[in-house]
Amino acid sequence: MSNQLDKVRELIELRAQARLGGGEKAIEKQHAQGKYTARERIAMLVDEGSFEELDMFVEHRCSNFGMEKKKFLGDGVVTGYGTIEGRLVYLFAQDFTVIGGSLSESMAQKICKVMDLAMLMGAPIVGLNDSGGARIQEGINALAGYAEIFQRNILASGVVPQISGIFGPCAGGAVYSPALTDFTIMAKGMSYMFLTGPKVVKTVTGEDVTQEQLGGAEVHARRSGVTHFAVESGDEGIVLIRKLLGFLPQNNLEEAPFRPTNDPIDRLEDSLNEIIPDSPNKPYDMYEVISSIVDDGEFLEVHANYAQNIIVGFAHFNGRSVGIVANQPKTLAGVLDINASRKAARFVRFCDAFNIPLVTLVDVPGFLPGTGQEYGGVIVHGAKLLYAYGEATVPKVTVTLRKSYGGAHIVMSCKQLRGDMNYAWPTAEIAVMGGAGAVEVLYAKEAKESDDPAKVLADKEAEYTKAFANPYNAAKYGYIDDVIEPRNTRFRVIRALQQLSTKKQTNPAKKHDNLPL
Ligand code: HXC
Repeated sequence: MSNQLDKVRELIELRAQARLGGGEKAIEKQHAQGKYTARERIAMLVDEGSFEELDMFVEHRCSNFGMEKKKFLGDGVVTGYGTIEGRLVYLFAQDFTVIGGSLSESMAQKICKVMDLAMLMGAPIVGLNDSGGARIQEGINALAGYAEIFQRNILASGVVPQISGIFGPCAGGAVYSPALTDFTIMAKGMSYMFLTGPKVVKTVTGEDVTQEQLGGAEVHARRSGVTHFAVESGDEGIVLIRKLLGFLPQNNLEEAPFRPTNDPIDRLEDSLNEIIPDSPNKPYDMYEVISSIVDDGEFLEVHANYAQNIIVGFAHFNGRSVGIVANQPKTLAGVLDINASRKAARFVRFCDAFNIPLVTLVDVPGFLPGTGQEYGGVIVHGAKLLYAYGEATVPKVTVTLRKSYGGAHIVMSCKQLRGDMNYAWPTAEIAVMGGAGAVEVLYAKEAKESDDPAKVLADKEAEYTKAFANPYNAAKYGYIDDVIEPRNTRFRVIRALQQLSTKKQTNPAKKHDNLPL
């Protein structure tokens, strides 16, 4: 046997050893918990045979607490690049079988290397998290490693899409890398995110809480909004990452991929001519409107369980990727509140950063009144959405279906916030405030002095509603570009987007903005 062949054999053996991560026992434990290993996850995520692994021979350099005897080839993270639907993507997947996927200084360097490559090449970065946090034996070096990653997350923000899959624990400061990325996906019963775990919570606050209650997928999808997606399993999470990337460009200088469709652009949807109930207080389902106007009825909703009074997500119009923002009259009458404003503002800013046009469907009675909202700072949070629409330079098409009142009318991509094409259905009511509220202010004195105050107010309300609760008042001033037939909405939106596809608009040069955080 030649010397060279021996060396090749040694390489093959070392590779096999690295691929075993923390060893067969640890892999069995991972499987027993219903979890995949890092390499299995990557294999499921990328196109078959496309993964090129890097830094397989990196080891940690710690010798505290006997760590010099506990080394694994590649350490606790698998990194590299591959393709998804033929498009380049950089990846890291934490390997829980190696010292609980805890982050060493060397692991951080591996992760930073692929993040740097993603920035150089202008390709998305996907992180699959499953880790006990900073490797405690490494102390400050592990913390420094996290900070290096966070710094790269920050610089990559708005340049390449960043997606975080959480497929196990994600504890301590480790949660901040996913929080800095564009989208976070958690799997129910498998993913946990918290700054301090249940034991510390018990010590500090006396509160008894399980991992699931403190930071499970349901909690972060519904209550905190920390995760954008909560899926049923790790498999579903991987499929979702692939699907999500299909709506996104590779970087901020490119367009999202074109997805051909057989759905005719002039498809009429007769049901939309009758979808608005006669009573202004009766809801209808905005999902029906969305699915009936987008290509093939397909809509990828983001933050589906959080602030359900507003809907955000991706769809295609004639093959082009579009971000949809829509009030949902079925939940809290579609009112804007703190959480809805934050949710929609973040989505609008993502779309604007990555050249994805915005289609806004409006049916909003106003902002939610009350001390709960005011004390919580609804002024500043509402301003976030206002700001996001006002600074966005992507094509913006707005369709007002029914209510559009007051401040909420302005916030929801009105003409003066550089809305490009603002359409309204004939059922639209675009006014400074609702009739009942308006006459209370204008005619309270007159009503009080009359024999029949209720009649005075009712008559005045009818007069106000007739005069103002329609789209033509706004159209008269050119604030609405056209009043359209509801069943023709798909066609009109597509024509508007086609017309706007060469739009070029820039904001004044500045170091960065100071949006109301
Ligand atoms: C070193 C760790 C570790 C860590 C887990 N391990 N977390 N080693 N540093 N942070 C090791 C365990 O010792 C164990 O080693 C192996 O990984 C598997 O862990 P288990 O505990 O057996 O697994 P499990 O029962 O599934 O529990 C998982 C866990 C638990 C819930 C994640 O390990 C845990 O609570 N870990 C600590 C979480 C935490 O407090 N992290 C914060 C660190 S400080 P053996 O050899 O027994 O197999 C931090 C600050 C970062 O993150 C700040 C950044 C800005």
